[in-house]
Amino acid sequence: MSEPKNQAAWLIKAGSPLEVGDAPLPKAGPGELVIKNVAIAINPLDCHMQDSGVFIQQWPAIFGCDIAGEVYEIGKDVERFKKGDRVIGHAINLISGRPQDGAFALYTVIPADKAAILPDEIPFTDGVVVPFALEAAVCALCLKEPGIAMPGVSTPALGLPYPSLRDVPLLGKILVVYGGSSSVGSMTIQIAKAAGIYVLAISGAHNFDFSMRCGADRVFDRKDSSLAAKIIDTVRNNGGDFIGIFDAIATPETYANDAAILAQLTKGHLACVNPPPPADSVPATVKSGMIFAVDDVVTPVWKDYVTPALQSGKLQCLPTPLIVGKGLEHIQSALEKAKEGVSATKLVIEL
Ligand SMILES: NC(=O)c1ccc[n+]([C@@H]2O[C@H](COP(=O)([O-])OP(=O)(O)OC[C@H]3O[C@@H](n4cnc5c(N)ncnc54)[C@H](OP(=O)(O)O)[C@@H]3O)[C@@H](O)[C@H]2O)c1
Repeated sequence: MSEPKNQAAWLIKAGSPLEVGDAPLPKAGPGELVIKNVAIAINPLDCHMQDSGVFIQQWPAIFGCDIAGEVYEIGKDVERFKKGDRVIGHAINLISGRPQDGAFALYTVIPADKAAILPDEIPFTDGVVVPFALEAAVCALCLKEPGIAMPGVSTPALGLPYPSLRDVPLLGKILVVYGGSSSVGSMTIQIAKAAGIYVLAISGAHNFDFSMRCGADRVFDRKDSSLAAKIIDTVRNNGGDFIGIFDAIATPETYANDAAILAQLTKGHLACVNPPPPADSVPATVKSGMIFAVDDVVTPVWKDYVTPALQSGKLQCLPTPLIVGKGLEHIQSALEKAKEGVSATKLVIEL
């Protein structure tokens, strides 16, 4: 049987539009899978990578993080999957730099440790919203030791338990998730709730229901002028152990509210999706850092949690996908749409 033809949406140089063209059919190395992609999703990081070339190590480049598809080839030492399995997975070109590890192609190599079976009843276009956000959420919550997110910036180590398939009792810990309607924030709510954490989410008023659907215990309006005071009161009245703030937006606007909250609560973590604010903007007793969404800490979640949790509905494929088009040539318009901003939505391309 002749080999299938691979194609990719190539980035030839930073700031240029993607160009669809032929690509070598990748091979699965030890511990890897080659996936025949059926759906891919867009993340804000993809826009930065295209615009500035950040993280790109090899030109021309194939990038992109989220895939859903069928296992095409299995590398040595991989036992959890067989050819034809429906899977979702996290493509890690971001750290490997290899074009074959980028999502924006018909075939992509992923580590088997960053993949899980997608239950038959869940469409690929739903499942594909999960991988990168899941990886970010688990890295944010479950790391036990600080690492390096980027030179001079450490990763936060909240050391929380992994999500459980059982209904766990509340642990008496309270976490603020800033950006409860974003892809990373909403997934962090889901994962924290499944670990028994009491979650206060900060979202737009139009997305309160969405954040509650993800499991938030209380939701606060991002536009409320007394937002910080309300969060401080709620944390104090709750009486639980304040873990800190996971800032899934991490802009000057959110940092100002983080600082106001932490100035009063004077403890916990400020875990950010971007480099944290200057050290002197939060009390010295607060540990700030930036998450980095690729880490082996997520492996047990991929192996033991994702598939049964998707099956039972404990892990929901949220935010809801918006399918931008079918075919690699639609990735460029999806990236442009992503730059305009989305609200509780993940942009998805079918292949
Ligand atoms: N460090 C890492 O490893 C890592 C990993 C993944 C992502 N990231 C970064 O994390 C950020 C979020 O990514 P994403 O994919 O989750 O984004 P996203 O889903 O595209 O975020 C859009 C959502 O953010 C909400 N939002 C915007 N400003 C807000 C504010 N001031 N307060 C509360 N909510 C606000 C919007 O709410 P409205 O509906 O109200 O407009 C919208 O629902 C990006 O900067 C991304 O690059 C970092």
